[in-house]
Amino acid sequence: MLHRAVGAVPWLLLAVPRLANAACECGYSLNKTTDADHAVFTDLMENDFLHTSLDNVTEAGWRPQQYNMSSEASRGPFGKNFSIPNVETNAFKQADAWSGESEKGGDAGLKLWVRGDHSRGFVNSAEMASVRDDAAYGSFRVGLKLSAQSGTCGAFFWYHNNSQEIDMEFLSKQFNQSQGTVNLVLQTPESVEKNYDASNTSEFKVQALPFRPDEKFHEYRFDWSPGRVAFYVDGTFHYEMTNNLPTQGGRFLFNHWSNGDPLWSAGPPGADTAMTISYMKSYFNSTDPARHDVHKGRCPTYDPAKVCAIPEQTKAPDPSEGPDGAKTYFFTKDGPDKVPGQIVYRQTSYEGAATSLFASPSIYLSLLVTFFSCIIVI
Ligand SMILES: *[C@@H]1O[C@H](CO)[C@@H](O)[C@H](O)[C@H]1NC(C)=O
Ligand SMILES: *[C@@H]1O[C@H](CO)[C@@H](O)[C@H](O)[C@H]1NC(C)=O
Ligand SMILES: *[C@@H]1O[C@H](CO)[C@@H](O)[C@H](O)[C@H]1NC(C)=O
Ligand SMILES: *[C@@H]1O[C@H](CO)[C@@H](O)[C@H](O)[C@H]1NC(C)=O
Ligand SMILES: *[C@@H]1O[C@H](CO)[C@@H](O)[C@H](O)[C@H]1NC(C)=O
Ligand SMILES: *[C@@H]1O[C@H](CO)[C@@H](O)[C@H](O)[C@H]1NC(C)=O
Ligand SMILES: *[C@@H]1O[C@H](CO)[C@@H](O)[C@H](O)[C@H]1NC(C)=O
Ligand SMILES: *[C@@H]1O[C@H](CO)[C@@H](O)[C@H](O)[C@H]1NC(C)=O
Repeated sequence: MLHRAVGAVPWLLLAVPRLANAACECGYSLNKTTDADHAVFTDLMENDFLHTSLDNVTEAGWRPQQYNMSSEASRGPFGKNFSIPNVETNAFKQADAWSGESEKGGDAGLKLWVRGDHSRGFVNSAEMASVRDDAAYGSFRVGLKLSAQSGTCGAFFWYHNNSQEIDMEFLSKQFNQSQGTVNLVLQTPESVEKNYDASNTSEFKVQALPFRPDEKFHEYRFDWSPGRVAFYVDGTFHYEMTNNLPTQGGRFLFNHWSNGDPLWSAGPPGADTAMTISYMKSYFNSTDPARHDVHKGRCPTYDPAKVCAIPEQTKAPDPSEGPDGAKTYFFTKDGPDKVPGQIVYRQTSYEGAATSLFASPSIYLSLLVTFFSCIIVI
């Protein structure tokens, strides 16, 4: 549940111009377009947090949240104090490496910290929300390593409002020697009626995992299509929900928090502990008419040959799997022709925003003229 409206910060969006040899003009598909069952999405948003080094995460498309809730409002013995500095990038030192040392030590990736000092009655926690709020139907994938300290809730979710929300929530108290657990949740009109408690509704599933989520990065994913939300882990299907599904557009959020409630987050932990995000990849349809126009412009007539199949991640994307164990596929790193008309975000503070993704700044500069015709501002 998101307890506060997300502030509107103006944001200049980069739309990659259309190129002659573009490949994915008509979108990105789940399964091949020749498969009997497939779905096509028009938009993408990808973040490679293993190689993102920014003081201002909003340049990467995310807004860290600053707000607090009293213990009464947070329904636990402690209040929650979500603070911006608790969202912190930590890239690999070597820009082309997929393992090795990170800038600030420990696991590379975007960190969401829960702090150990709660002496003032609040637990310092972290939350961030995507700038984009226009996703309706899609495939949403994250590389995540959860807190190794008992007593936090780490979550990844899509959010329209308190009765339209799709969650994957991890309670570190549920991790133990042999296995872990992910809580699959839809917030629905029924959970709102039950005082925001989804745990006794039909759209709640405690899913056992064959591993501890705090030992390695794994890919957690849900595919939302009309009539179905399907949950996957490392490419393996785990569970689906087909009732009370959301219907509106929304944004993505991550948070990591504790309020000491023994029935949910438990804790709070006595020392700082992080949840680390190695990547976020979203392929989705937009509710924004301007994005529809951009899509129509590059794909006036649907042509399955101009749809790119989204690769499946079928193993844990973890550096322990080998020097390239954490290496996964990004359309945004595969060249501008793979992201025609898409909005792409910055990754590092030391490269120019527009040139950060692709090898040749000169190609980019030559495109800036056409580029200005497709700058889009929400
Ligand atoms: C993709 O294929 C799998 C396996 O056949 C199927 O279960 C799934 O529903 C398909 N996805 C879509 C979006 O059609
Ligand atoms: C996404 O939008 C495209 C273009 O409008 C449409 O063809 C496709 O069916 C939509 N996908 C889903 C899953 O609704
Ligand atoms: C962070 O970046 C966003 C997007 O460029 C900008 O609107 C905002 O002012 C920046 N915040 C700070 C503190 O610089
Ligand atoms: C909670 O937020 C309000 C408004 O930003 C602020 O005035 C107050 O000091 C904060 N309380 C705590 C305990 O951090
Ligand atoms: C809440 O977080 C803000 C910003 O990090 C900090 O200034 C404030 O002291 C914190 N309040 C408490 C009670 O932890
Ligand atoms: C959520 O949004 C839907 C559609 O806009 C609306 O019908 C519903 O009442 C909203 N729910 C809440 C809890 O605000
Ligand atoms: C480990 O956690 C799982 C899932 O929460 C639980 O079913 C199992 O009993 C636990 N095992 C031990 C040894 O605590
Ligand atoms: C869950 O719902 C059932 C049926 O409505 C009810 O009997 C039970 O008391 C509920 N349990 C909790 C913990 O709310």
